Amino acid sequence: MMSNKDRIDAAELVRHAKAARERAYAPYSRFRVGSALLDEQGNIHYGCNVENAAYGPTNCAERTALFRAIADGHKKGSFAAIAVVGDTDGPVSPCGVCRQVMAELCAPDMPVYMANLKGDLVETTVSKLLPGAFGPGDLASS
Ligand code: THU
Repeated sequence: MMSNKDRIDAAELVRHAKAARERAYAPYSRFRVGSALLDEQGNIHYGCNVENAAYGPTNCAERTALFRAIADGHKKGSFAAIAVVGDTDGPVSPCGVCRQVMAELCAPDMPVYMANLKGDLVETTVSKLLPGAFGPGDLASS
């Protein structure tokens, strides 16, 4: 039987990411980003970038979605896909910090959909975005 998560395709997840982008708090960069994280049960967790006058505390859309899902009780590895969208020429590329957080909380082969407002969409995976990521296993070896 098809589970709920299988009914949500890349284009639909990007549509949810666009809706999340509308909620971005980006008064400094004016660069609004939205993200939608699909879990194994078919629930969608929304994220947007949240900036700060001190700049450093800024949180990207992808991390907002992941941290929110974890705070809501969802477990590491229980996610099916993540979409991210920005108003970029090509599909928006997740920053290095978000790639590291995805590598920590998502399966290496989990799809990542990178999109823009023009309708460009590229599918990649967590491990392709950050090959050789530092991870929990590295802490155990010292
Ligand atoms: N940003 C994201 O939210 N996700 C990305 O993938 C790229 C960058 C945000 C951080 C900051 O609020 C603004 O975009 C400009 O860097």
